[in-house]
This record gives sequence, C-alpha cells and structure tokens, in this order.
Amino acid sequence: MASFEVLMPLPGMPEIAERLERRVTLHKLWEASDREAALAKIAPNIRAVVSTWATARVDAELMRRLPKLEIVAGFGVGYDHIDAAWAGQHGIVVTHTPGVLDEDVADIAIALTLAATRRLPQAERHLRDGRWPNGAFPLTASLQGRVMGILGLGRIGKAIARRAEAFGLNIAYHGRHKQDGVAYPYCATPLALAEACDVLMVTAPGGPETRHIVDARVLAALGPDGVLVNIARGSLVDEQALIAALSDRAILAAGLDVYEREPSVPAELMALDNAVLLPHVGSATGKTRAAMANLVVENLLSWIDGKGPLTPTPETPWRR
Ligand code: 8YV
Repeated sequence: MASFEVLMPLPGMPEIAERLERRVTLHKLWEASDREAALAKIAPNIRAVVSTWATARVDAELMRRLPKLEIVAGFGVGYDHIDAAWAGQHGIVVTHTPGVLDEDVADIAIALTLAATRRLPQAERHLRDGRWPNGAFPLTASLQGRVMGILGLGRIGKAIARRAEAFGLNIAYHGRHKQDGVAYPYCATPLALAEACDVLMVTAPGGPETRHIVDARVLAALGPDGVLVNIARGSLVDEQALIAALSDRAILAAGLDVYEREPSVPAELMALDNAVLLPHVGSATGKTRAAMANLVVENLLSWIDGKGPLTPTPETPWRR
C-alpha cells in the first residue's frame, strides 16, 4: 500500500515530525534547497499538510496544487492563516487545537492587563536604571472596581473573565450574539463595549470578518483612562490608529502579545512608553505547546486510521 504523504512547510515542535515519521512519509519543505521544485515534485501525492506556524500560510493557491489533499492540521486555536472556508467547500478537513491553551493564554492576558495599567516594566526599569534613590516611581492607575470589556467571549475570554473577577474587575462583553446563560452585561457593538469599559480585552478570532474592529473610533470611545489588551490576532486592531491613540494619550496604555505583521513590530510602537509589548507568547509554555503538538499529531493519526478528525474547525465538512 502506498505510504500516506504529508507536507510540512516549516519546522515545528520536534515531536510532531518525530511521531509522524513513524507512520507517514513526511516531506520537510524547509530542508529543500529549491522549495518550488521540491513542491512541484511531491504535490500530486500529498494527502495532508501540517501547518506549524501562522507564517506558513495554507491558502487556496497552495491547496489547489495538491489534488489529493484530504486534511490540513493546524498548530494553534487560531487558524486565520489557513483558508478553512475554501478547504470546506472543497471537501478538505481543517483541524486546530482548541481547549488546551486557554488557561496559559488567559494568564498572559491578565499579566498584560496588570503590566500596562500598573506600568510594571517601566517600574522595573526605574529600579534597574538606578533612579529609585532619586525618587519614587510615579503613581499609576488602579484596576480596582473598573470594567473589563471582553471582545469575543469564547473559551479563552471566559478563562480571562474568571481571573479578572478575582482581581476586582467587573465584566461586560461583545460577540456575534448575546450568550444564553451568561450573566455579564452584553454590548451590541465593539463601540458600545469600548464606551462601557476601562480595559478592552481583545480575544475574538482573526480573519476578514474581524479585521480592524478596533479602529480609531473604538479607541476614542475607550478614552484617556482606557487600556487596550490584545492577545488574539494583530489584524483585529488598526495598528496605525493604535499608535496614534497611544501617542496622543487618547488612551492610557496598551498591552499587546500580537501584531499585524509578526514578527515585525512597528518602530513607532516600540518607541512608545505607554505600550507593553510581548512577542506572541500567550501559549508559549512547555506544557501547553506539548499538548498542542500532541493534538496536531492525534488529529492526523485519527484521520489516517479512518476515525475522523478530533478537533475540526466549524468550516470543515465533517459530521460525527
Ligand atoms: C500560537 C496562537 O503561538 O493558538 C493560537 O492561535 O496564536 C498561539 O497559541 C500559534 O498558533 C503558533 O503559530
């Protein structure tokens, strides 16, 4: 029987390739000196693609070149770099890794909220630069009794809400629909949410539908005491509008883990003293990344064994 051929455009957690190589023929495209020639040669037999990073786009153009493609297994809960709608329309399964990273990402969301509001990196620099003996670090804003507005109350948003309540914050939210069984106040638009909150927490999925839903108007509504935190995707926030709002003090501060053109971060953003910037580390713990890698492999092996995908995306034409 012909071996099951899998394309991996970029390297990922080592255990993904190690485990898959025991069962399939794995084509590691990053090892090819001429990627285009290598792809042209293997494309007719590829039945699965493993997408390890958002920089490895799996778009219609690539999938069209793979006539035997059955499944794309993505590493991450977000899959805006995979054209899941096109895949779904063409009978191709797309899987992602929901559920295993919520708590670590929620921890980083709270860390950014605290760091941006209480100016923790700036306070640490004050100490390390030897400025403490000459004067105390200036007073900062407080989180107590303020409202966190969660934009996209999914699994991660709810994990953040639980933590935020323990920190003395009240919660409001916006999403496509008001959710049954959720007691937090619902705001019908992102603008209404920004008006109602002090910390705007962006947790909705990326993609064309949510592009720039946080724009100059939303930031103006958040106001001069407002803090923006984004742990979702850079595409949800108009980065130029954010830079302008931070520079003009139209908002107080921002805490960001994600950017519009990762891994490139605009120099204007880096120069701002009221932005706390992390290099997309929300899920970056050994434990969680191992769980994500495991789910990528288990999805593929389950498919190869004829048992179907374990965690398909909603666009996937798969019904249990
Ligand atoms: C990963 C993420 O860093 O799950 C996601 O959507 O953004 C992160 O957990 C990313 O998927 C790795 O490409």
